Amino acid sequence: MVELKNIDYAIGGNQILQDVSLTVGGKETLAILGASGSGKSTILKVILGLAKPDRGEVMIQGQDISLVTYSELVDIRKKIGIVFQDGALFDSITVGENVGYYFMEHKNLSHEEVEPLVLEMLDTVGLKHTLDMMPDELSGGMRRRVAIARALIYKPSLILYDEPTTGLDPVAKDSILELIDKLKEEHNVASVIVTHDLDDAYQAADRFVVIRNGQVVWGGTRRQFAAQRDKMIAKYFCAPYKAVC
Ligand SMILES: Nc1ncnc2c1ncn2[C@@H]1O[C@H](COP(=O)(O)OP(=O)(O)O)[C@@H](O)[C@H]1O
Ligand SMILES: [Mg+2]
Repeated sequence: MVELKNIDYAIGGNQILQDVSLTVGGKETLAILGASGSGKSTILKVILGLAKPDRGEVMIQGQDISLVTYSELVDIRKKIGIVFQDGALFDSITVGENVGYYFMEHKNLSHEEVEPLVLEMLDTVGLKHTLDMMPDELSGGMRRRVAIARALIYKPSLILYDEPTTGLDPVAKDSILELIDKLKEEHNVASVIVTHDLDDAYQAADRFVVIRNGQVVWGGTRRQFAAQRDKMIAKYFCAPYKAVC
């Protein structure tokens, strides 16, 4: 589904990513783990073609995105759903309008044509009853599930989640992680979860990479992750001056 090969990326002389290579298979969830500022969100921008690498290749379903036209890139992006940390909903329109907005705009469809689809997506995330509610009536976890419903409307084959559980209480966290898993199992989507939370990553992902200072410093399966977790925390997540991590 996604293959990054030897990506270098710098901003204003600052090396943000260095020789980053990773793959995401179809129907696979990859967790990108790392401390704040390590380059995780930048990797998502590279996958979306929003950050142009100085070196390396970005392949999405076998297509090198540096070689496609802008309209082809737009088509590739439609296969990719994005869920940001804060849910990023428009507060002045209803939940249903939030979910259907871009779809209605891009496909030139009427409200009546889009509404059944919006209901189907809200049903998938367990929030059909919120159709006519305003975003500020929802809890943090519900807002993120609405953001996932909005990402699903294009029927993406890949969903990118940037810190999907940060700031949520344990129950809301679990509901998001279960939803991510359900989408993989029932809708066959591949996922990338960016997080600094090792427990959340372990709950949701099939494969893991750890980023530090823009470099991939570790990669492995669930079994390897479970076995090396403590060693990894000490090595990659704790600042040397911290007594306890
Ligand atoms: N637009 C930008 N201009 C300058 N520096 C940036 C920009 N975006 C990100 N960075 C820097 O790149 C590094 C990685 O950022 P980011 O990918 O957002 O990290 P993460 O998502 O892991 O917290 C950080 O040091 C950040 O300050
Ligand atoms: Mg980030």
